[in-house]
Amino acid sequence: DKGHFRHFMLKEIYEQAEIAALWVGKHLAKARIDSKYLQSDSLISLSLDDEVFEGIERIQILACGTSRHASLIGAYLLEQFAGIPTSVFYASEFRYAPPPLLSNTLTIAVTQSGETADTLAALQMEQKRLEARADPLCNSCQLGITNRPDSSLTRQVSHLLYISAGIEIGVAATKTFLGQLLTFYGLTLAFAERRNSCSKSELRALVTELQELPYYLRKLIKEHDELCANLAENFDDVRGVVFLGRGINYPIALEGALKLKEISYIQAEGYPAGEMKHGPIALLDPEVPVVSIAVPGRVFSKVISNCQEAKARDAKVIGITPIGPETKLFDMLLPIPEVSEWLSPLLTVIPMQLLSYHIACHRGLDVDQPRNLAKSVTVE
Ligand code: F6R
Repeated sequence: DKGHFRHFMLKEIYEQAEIAALWVGKHLAKARIDSKYLQSDSLISLSLDDEVFEGIERIQILACGTSRHASLIGAYLLEQFAGIPTSVFYASEFRYAPPPLLSNTLTIAVTQSGETADTLAALQMEQKRLEARADPLCNSCQLGITNRPDSSLTRQVSHLLYISAGIEIGVAATKTFLGQLLTFYGLTLAFAERRNSCSKSELRALVTELQELPYYLRKLIKEHDELCANLAENFDDVRGVVFLGRGINYPIALEGALKLKEISYIQAEGYPAGEMKHGPIALLDPEVPVVSIAVPGRVFSKVISNCQEAKARDAKVIGITPIGPETKLFDMLLPIPEVSEWLSPLLTVIPMQLLSYHIACHRGLDVDQPRNLAKSVTVE
């Protein structure tokens, strides 16, 4: 039931605030951020066996499409926060060119449907490779992250995290992406806490911000729904759109481009902003706008100068950025609240989803059932 929404996709975008509130209530409820915080209290509760954490020296993640983009952010968090070397693979590539087997590796398969053929086959192949070893590699365990407790993935792995986003009907993944991101935040906090890879105060700062996320999302989704509806007509005559991000927001640029391609059929590419001068800058002109994520943090000034380079090529630049002195650089603005860089992908994805939604609606397209796509890709 779509309720009062025009499409399932829009309903599912709006549901994200509630999904975040449920997640915070379930996993961070015990976190006491005040002065009464005790050393022994855990900031995050996840129902996962110790086996998943103990002795793990590296992580490899297998996924496709939007799930892979969530995994790239997961890898960023796991490396930068928890200090664990993490690689993300296209499941379809991993199947035919897996890296050499190493001990003490956690393999994570991420699939919202739990049915994606390539992801299941890549995981199965990894399980077979491990079984075939005469000396079983210690601590090599597998974890599944899915939205579907009834799925094939659930039967294939011994450790699972459910993202509890509720069934997603729109073909374009939105709320399950947010659910996957939250799961990675939880996993990162759990690893970081066990390993003391960063200070308690850093962890607490992230937890405090996560607790505020539902409030930010509620406000942002409503505001950007209107803003993006108004912006959509600016994309009538574009030849393509370039999405730029850096650091933890680079995968959000990839996701913005994927969403736009999927439902509006506009050619779109996502790049790490610093890579633009190595080729993609040749694409830019007044008919190829740039959507740029510029979040204060370690690469903010770099992204701003990348946007200036784009403007110098007469491209229109749309900024997903907090309001500040740099705002005047942008031709159009999708403002976001100023939160830490760490939390920012959970907010910057919202304008990406709503922009592609409204552009597709403006073009009169069937956003819930885009051409050539299926909700579960159960063939290779
Ligand atoms: C994008 C989209 C696809 C899926 C991909 C993987 O909106 O829906 O790119 O993300 O097919 O699907 P799951 O997560 O079910 O493995």
